[in-house]
Amino acid sequence: MRRHPALEPFSRDHNDALILARSLMEDRPGAMEELQRLWALDLQPHFAAEERLLLPLLTQDEAGRLLTEHAALAEAVAGLASPVGAGRLLHDHVRWEERTLFPALESRLTERQFAELLAATDAYERTRWAGNPRREELVRRRWSRRGESLP
Ligand SMILES: [Fe+2]
Ligand SMILES: [Fe+2]
Repeated sequence: MRRHPALEPFSRDHNDALILARSLMEDRPGAMEELQRLWALDLQPHFAAEERLLLPLLTQDEAGRLLTEHAALAEAVAGLASPVGAGRLLHDHVRWEERTLFPALESRLTERQFAELLAATDAYERTRWAGNPRREELVRRRWSRRGESLP
């Protein structure tokens, strides 16, 4: 199923996170340094945005899992896990969000909740463009292909 546009900014980040998770799980040289480099740049803002924007929409179980796994990933970045362990955590967390959590949200949010979430995740998406003009170009191209005119 196609991802709802309100969740797309998170799914875009997930593609990058899965590539990183794979290189960690394969224990490639430099993968752990790359994880630490991307933590401040990409992963931490992503987790913070999910916690700020999605937590109010989650069940207690979903919220518990999301927070527990974010905390475990923060510990992994602090060097408390092996590269393979950190990669596995990141991979499984992203897969859970993509395959279970996001479809659950897509099936139960009201139109109004989607509209509010879209405005908020769109604002989040734009914060990612400053250091990544390629991302902005890709997102703008996708919007225009779909004939969408987001603010
Ligand atoms: Fe997450
Ligand atoms: Fe995520």
